[in-house]
Amino acid sequence: MSDAKQKKNFLSAIKEMPAAVWSSVFRNRLPHTDLGRSRTSFTNFFLHIQPVKVHKHTLKPWFTMGLGLISLFLFLILIVTGVLLMFYYVPSTTQAYDRMLDLRGTVAFGTMLRNMHRWSAHGMVAVVFLHMCRVFFTGSYKKPREFNWVVGVLLFLLTLFASFTGYLLPWDQLAFWAITVGTAIAGYAPVFGEQIRFLLLGDTTVGQEALLRFYVLHVAVLPVLMTLLIAVHFWRIRKDGGLSRPEDADIVTETSANLTNLQPNPAVAASSINTIEIKRYGIQGLVRGHFTKVGNVPDNTVFSYPNLLLAELFVFILTIFGVLLVSYFFNAPLEEPVNILHPPNPSKAPWYFLGLQEMVSYSAFWGGVGIPAIEVLILLFVPYLDRNKKGVGRWFAKERLLANTLFMTFVVVNIILIIIGTFFRGQNWEFVSPF
Ligand code: HEM
Repeated sequence: MSDAKQKKNFLSAIKEMPAAVWSSVFRNRLPHTDLGRSRTSFTNFFLHIQPVKVHKHTLKPWFTMGLGLISLFLFLILIVTGVLLMFYYVPSTTQAYDRMLDLRGTVAFGTMLRNMHRWSAHGMVAVVFLHMCRVFFTGSYKKPREFNWVVGVLLFLLTLFASFTGYLLPWDQLAFWAITVGTAIAGYAPVFGEQIRFLLLGDTTVGQEALLRFYVLHVAVLPVLMTLLIAVHFWRIRKDGGLSRPEDADIVTETSANLTNLQPNPAVAASSINTIEIKRYGIQGLVRGHFTKVGNVPDNTVFSYPNLLLAELFVFILTIFGVLLVSYFFNAPLEEPVNILHPPNPSKAPWYFLGLQEMVSYSAFWGGVGIPAIEVLILLFVPYLDRNKKGVGRWFAKERLLANTLFMTFVVVNIILIIIGTFFRGQNWEFVSPF
């Protein structure tokens, strides 16, 4: 090849490089056709976790209220801000508190970083709980989603534990005494109570060993476990056929069923409005639920790209905006450095355990261990205890009056206990009026 030709080739390679690099990373252009929209979801690493199409019901904002997504986004914010905080924090009883002061005084955006981490953690406890309530009140834990509910309950417990272990790290009076009270509750467990407490603290009292254990649990063990479980949670949502929806969300007519000699659910057929032609093929033995429908059937699905993606983006912006707003106006508390000789009176556990602390004031065993253990067991087995198949995918379905009333009682009682523990308890856990 002549020199001139080589030079020309080289120049045109340089000219085409940006486009070549771009198309090697992003294999599809912004799609304008349905095939393109499918490909975008299918081939993109980040998007392929979603199905190519989702049911329209999934996108109705009042159904999920985006609570699962908000939980996820808060978790991601916690990971990012947590890693940044790790650049400054040292899990040592002699340094931890000073590092907190440094964050406040000398590190650029240190206060904001700490505020974002703190408020996202509290927010996540509340939002995951609300998400659990939404799943319950819409009956979305029923077949085939029983196991995903169980995974969810485990995620809720891990969220509480992750928040609790982080509480100790600032090593101030608030942290020290809250964890002293919190871990004392663990000690009320029968037979192994003291051993569990020792395992958690690495000592008989809260000190350097406890700080190190809580740190390792908080920055490594629990986040890894949660990431794994969240992945399983999302995978199950896909395998369980997407989010739950009411029986009449996919209507099929009697006429259409007769056309192809199929026997659909009579209740569903009776409530239909369209006349359609239907073909069903049973080749996908691995797919749950009805066989895949092929042909001219009512299509209640939309492409995930861009419909679901935009909805998710909207929830993400809302979440980050909320966290920034709260973090701008309210500073995470930092009290005096730890003073083992001066316990505050009363010493209170973190707010989400104040219901427990309130119950402990009546009975150490029943309040701290017995009742919470029964509550967790019932929560775990809810989908297997409630055999009523009706009322899935609808808020407060009247067929589920008993289940919803029982769960509402559980929610309200717990909230009342937390309010009493937070606002109505003073010195020596005496009843006081906050007004
Ligand atoms: C770290 C905590 C959690 C995260 C990040 C998370 C995330 C999600 C997301 C994104 C969805 C789909 C959309 C939505 O419902 O908003 C979902 C659905 C679901 N979640 Fe969670 N979740 C968590 C905890 C829980 C808990 C505590 C439970 C119940 C005890 C639970 C049970 C379920 C079930 C059964 C579904 C399917 C609901 C349906 O089909 O309608 N999740 N979760």
